[in-house]
Amino acid sequence: MEREKILVTSALPYANGPIHLGHLSGAYLPADIYVRYHRLKGTDIIYICGSDEHGVPITITADKEGVSPKVIIDRFHEMNKKAFEKFGMSFDIYSRTSIPLHHETAQEFFKCFYDQGLLTEKKTWQFYDPKVKKFLPDRYVEGTCPKCGYEEARSDECENCGAIYEPTELINPKSKITGETPELRETSHWYFPLGKFQPRLEKYIDEMSAKYGWKENVLQYCRSWFKEGLRDRAVTRDLDWGVKVPLENAEGKVLYVWFEAVLGYISATKKLSLEKGEPELWRKYWQDEKTKYVAFIGKDNIVFHTIIFPAMLMGWNDVNEDKFILPQNVPANEFLNFEGKKFSKSRGWGIDVIDFLEKFPPDPLRYTLGSNLPETKDTDFYLKEFQAKNNNELADILGNFVNRTFTFVHKHFEGKVPESGELNEMDKQMLETIESFPAKVGGLIEKYKIRDAVNEMMNLARAGNKYFNDSAPWLSVKNDKAKAGTTLNICLQTIFTLAEIFEPVIPFTSKKIFNMLNAEPVGWDEAGKPQLEAGHKLNKAEILFTKIDDKVIDDLFKELGHTEEEANVALVDDEEFSKVELKVAKIVEAEKIKKSEKLLKLQLDLGNEKRQVVAGIAKTYSPEDLPGKRIVIVANLKPAKLFGVESQGMILAAETEDGKLEIVEVSEKVPLGTRVK
Ligand code: MF3
Ligand code: ZN
Repeated sequence: MEREKILVTSALPYANGPIHLGHLSGAYLPADIYVRYHRLKGTDIIYICGSDEHGVPITITADKEGVSPKVIIDRFHEMNKKAFEKFGMSFDIYSRTSIPLHHETAQEFFKCFYDQGLLTEKKTWQFYDPKVKKFLPDRYVEGTCPKCGYEEARSDECENCGAIYEPTELINPKSKITGETPELRETSHWYFPLGKFQPRLEKYIDEMSAKYGWKENVLQYCRSWFKEGLRDRAVTRDLDWGVKVPLENAEGKVLYVWFEAVLGYISATKKLSLEKGEPELWRKYWQDEKTKYVAFIGKDNIVFHTIIFPAMLMGWNDVNEDKFILPQNVPANEFLNFEGKKFSKSRGWGIDVIDFLEKFPPDPLRYTLGSNLPETKDTDFYLKEFQAKNNNELADILGNFVNRTFTFVHKHFEGKVPESGELNEMDKQMLETIESFPAKVGGLIEKYKIRDAVNEMMNLARAGNKYFNDSAPWLSVKNDKAKAGTTLNICLQTIFTLAEIFEPVIPFTSKKIFNMLNAEPVGWDEAGKPQLEAGHKLNKAEILFTKIDDKVIDDLFKELGHTEEEANVALVDDEEFSKVELKVAKIVEAEKIKKSEKLLKLQLDLGNEKRQVVAGIAKTYSPEDLPGKRIVIVANLKPAKLFGVESQGMILAAETEDGKLEIVEVSEKVPLGTRVK
């Protein structure tokens, strides 16, 4: 039988910053588990990744630091490559899009589209910053919205009122790079007709998803894109960093970064082929209909991989003999949050992979992330949970089972695999359990249920511990050594199976266990059958997992600049915040509430409404200070009674350093009853 051929890619991360744990969960760890599993299956598989090194954000970072973009990409390419290595990512190549081979490949595609007349040229007006002599991409211009007056509107749309307009309509535009007023200059760009491919794209996705079970989250994105209707997309930009547009009279223009980055998968495979001394090898993966292509990504990349990239490949295939295959599946993941909040570089929230791996070995991180992958919804990474996974599962279940078995065999059987004698029911059952695991776990991985697969693996270690306990070899070794031998033989076979099926998730530990067993992996499909001969000499036991102290986790929180409690305060989104009604009110009357030291009863004027509110400000303000003050209240709080007095709202106040309260005041410019937003 011919070996199955699979091509796997993971989204090419921007070489514009360090990768963090969220990235790993989205597009990298699940792919690595999938690939490692297939290698053990004997599949002919290659795994492609690399840095995405073009695009505006990289030039902005470079400008900020006063260096060339090359300095930035070199720095982060190396850093991310190293982080991935430390994390145990098993790419066959980690390429980059700045290499000449990539530029050539991307230009070849552009030429192909251009020559067959697919691209149309359109003239547009665009902001230009004369000080830095650059056209400004939309997000680098800010001004006042012509519709609602919002002052931080983008050049073509207002996020406050949703208006869409021409850049010429933006009031008082400013370049975000220099703060200067930009000029409008005429420019022209080439557009790729996505709409033309829509019927074929819909058919492609229908067929693939029906046959191979695409994830619902991915299909939903696609459907909503189709519903809106695919439009022409500009595939060039006015920028001096990127893949040059291969036409005359196109100076200063490069290919839109997404339009070439996806081709980075192909150029990377070509590079791998060259390195292997087989320049045409890449065709076996990209241009053989029998190859299955799986693209692992995070959810923000869906449209590029299910619509734009396939459309580009179709465009190529229409006019060429050597035809590319399209992704057979795009198992996009949702996002991972950190301690209940979004990872955010600007707010310094989250941990970079490189920093994390300075403190902890990779396997506990792989296991924790793997057992909680955001496959169907966003999930969270909690440091406490990481600690618990390491201590209570890896160390206490897997580590403990391996350790007690080895200790026992070294103590009572001279470190050699004992003979397996007559089997009782429990032994037979355990052997059946072992045998069932590779297929069970493998089936989940093949359906991209990687998180379930990871959790299933630990169940075999659980079963091993239970079998050890129930068989009680510490008793039988005293009066029936052969029976104890049988038990330990089966425990060692279990450990062999564990080492093999855990390899995709915790490869470093798997290697250690194989080393302890003095054995080599035998391949996934064989891994459930007894592999160790009686008398086979084992090596010394090593420590597989070290427990993590509370103090280590506490210190890490301190380093992050937050306590755990702070970290767990939920973020409020716009929608939730907009439920809170804040209004301007004037204090008309204030009096003490009997028996209370803290509370004052206030009568308020909200313009066309009067209210009574009880406020805990008596220690700071005496009643006569208050009338006339214009304050802000929470106007839609449920009414409450304090000391028998009804309160219809709450006033805003903040504590001063000496513990007094300061009421938030508003000037007379704002009419009473105005909503504060
Ligand atoms: N650099 C992009 C990101 O980090 C992903 C690019 S995927 C590719 O979101 F296919 F375009 F390379
Ligand atoms: Zn607006």
